[in-house]
Amino acid sequence: MCGIFGYLNYLVERDRRFILDTLTNGLSRLEYRGYDSAGLAVDGDNEETTLIIKQVGKVAALKKLVDEQPVDFQKTFISHTGMAHTRWATHGQPCQINSHPHRSGEDNEFTLVHNGIITNYKEIKLLLTKKGYTFESDTDTECVAKLTKYIYDSQKDTPGFNLTSLVKAVAKELEGSFAFIFKSIHFPNEIVATRRGSPLLVGVKTAKKLKVDFVDVEFSNPTEVAASTPAKDANNFLSVDGQPQQMLHRSQSRAFLSEDGLPQPIEYFLASDAAAIVEHTKRVLYLEDDDIAHIADGELHIHRLRRDADGTATTRSIQTLEIELAEIMKGSFDHFMQKEIYEQPESVVNTMRGRVNFEKHEVTLGGLRGYLPIIRRARRIVFIACGTSYHSCLATRGIFEELTEIPTQIDLASDFLDRRTPIFRDDVCVFVSQSGETADTILAMRYCLERGALAVGITNTVGSSISRESHCGVHINAGPEIGVASTKAYTSQYIALVMMAIQLSEDRVSTTERRKEIIDGLYLLPGHIKEVLAEAASLQKLASETLTKEKSLLILGRGYQNATCLEGALKIKEISYMHSEGILAGELKHGPLALIDEAMAVILIMTKDSLFPKVQSALQQVTARKGQPIIICNKGDDDLTKNYKTIPVPQTTDCLQGLVNIIPLQLLSYYLAVLKGQDVDFPRNLAKSVTVE
Ligand code: F6R
Repeated sequence: MCGIFGYLNYLVERDRRFILDTLTNGLSRLEYRGYDSAGLAVDGDNEETTLIIKQVGKVAALKKLVDEQPVDFQKTFISHTGMAHTRWATHGQPCQINSHPHRSGEDNEFTLVHNGIITNYKEIKLLLTKKGYTFESDTDTECVAKLTKYIYDSQKDTPGFNLTSLVKAVAKELEGSFAFIFKSIHFPNEIVATRRGSPLLVGVKTAKKLKVDFVDVEFSNPTEVAASTPAKDANNFLSVDGQPQQMLHRSQSRAFLSEDGLPQPIEYFLASDAAAIVEHTKRVLYLEDDDIAHIADGELHIHRLRRDADGTATTRSIQTLEIELAEIMKGSFDHFMQKEIYEQPESVVNTMRGRVNFEKHEVTLGGLRGYLPIIRRARRIVFIACGTSYHSCLATRGIFEELTEIPTQIDLASDFLDRRTPIFRDDVCVFVSQSGETADTILAMRYCLERGALAVGITNTVGSSISRESHCGVHINAGPEIGVASTKAYTSQYIALVMMAIQLSEDRVSTTERRKEIIDGLYLLPGHIKEVLAEAASLQKLASETLTKEKSLLILGRGYQNATCLEGALKIKEISYMHSEGILAGELKHGPLALIDEAMAVILIMTKDSLFPKVQSALQQVTARKGQPIIICNKGDDDLTKNYKTIPVPQTTDCLQGLVNIIPLQLLSYYLAVLKGQDVDFPRNLAKSVTVE
């Protein structure tokens, strides 16, 4: 899993410094997707050469190497193509030679960057080795660069051959997931990008007005289409919805980006994520699986890799991004994670904005409109997610079951797929994902769609695969989350799921009072979170004086707090690398109690709810073994605050208490990581968006 970025200027004079800075800055915004190594490819001093620069480590190391290059940084280019990549290793060690861009051979004839995994790369490598190709890296991607050269050599004399038909022929041979950007010395000032399973979008920047807000999707090879539809007149071919439409030869078809139809100065930015594009332009076009985007002569053309099944749109609309650059910058904070923890009083409000009517005690989720009757009639609801997103499902399962009385199952996406879980047409499957691009979750969604279930997406990323491919859903509106450790997305997912449970149960009079109580709790939530954040200094002290020297930390709780324990432990281990385990307090006596002695660090969650007496017995079990737990309790619980080391937090409705209790654990994990000198926003071996299985 990686981040890719491409830049093309046409009739816009740019010097090499600008082009290199644009590429490396684009990578910096994508660094959360992987940061083992980084690299870029730009034109050399003439169009027949490509310069590749790669470096192990983060983008900063690449920037340094770029600055040391013996090149003329002032040299200007009226048109130019460049590409860049930040890597999270899947095949081959993080080292210079395995970094992207990969090339077809020593003369850099074809260069490409790739996000994803090519699963049949061994077969391709074997075939090309037999043809005399040699390989310099251990990556799956290099095989694609060599395959491109091989197909180029065998097809270049075919009439109508161009970069699109070349990439189309290459992509047809590939299995797995990918987003690619291609560049070639044979096709100067052109870029071709394609995707299947990995995200990719194109930003368009031009001073002129765009004539239309969409790009026509073309079948790139009329002869192939005609051959596959012999019943049709050669001047027509089937459109994707099965209706005849006017034939568009490539020479006639246009992306129609200029109002007056004249060549215009224009710049294109391609990226795995809008975060890398928004500082340049807000006008973007999301590519669909099997789209091939070809930029040549300043025009963008979208072709399809294969003929579509019924129902696929024949245009790709140009959308306007709503995020601001300021939203993805650190501001006065030291780390994105810290900023995102502190944003929660606001991000939770954004999740509820326009959806919760606090006076009338009503919730309206526009994204579920029209689907509520189907969901209410569901035989069961299955929540499917990974990591922190899974914890948000676990945290809200209780209230879902209580309010809706619909049997509710929750599953980790990978395990759900491994089990080939039986799914039926009357199931409703809810896919929760911050990025909307997690491969396991997307595959689970496609599995459920194939079996006829209703797919509901809960995501933070508008335009992501999950938001596009699900039938309906809710955007959590938490704003861009850059820190690899998820914080504000967790609290917003939690709220989105609680809102969904409330709306689904609005036809049940028996739950009216309970719904009111929860909505009142939601109203007070931002204030409660602020109260906990105000205690950050004492949490920092606790981390530095007590916890930082510990080898291991157990977090115990039960009921609604089981999810808080698991999520808190995940935060601690992923960024501070300290071992931590969330344990359901009811399970203590079935094994984990053996770990407890005076030396084992324990946090016990004892906020007040109906299970409080049971958690009190967990406290006794721990103290009887000389354990000295730190207790998260409600403010004013004198019994606990007087006798134990405590983290007092405001009290709220039982099913929302987890939203308050997770905040001190997020802060503790943050301070532990800082104290241990770890790279908070980029923990080792992890990446923000896990787009591989
Ligand atoms: C942990 C974390 C991960 C993600 C998981 C799913 O802090 O961020 O566990 O929650 O990789 O990612 P999304 O939500 O993007 O599907």
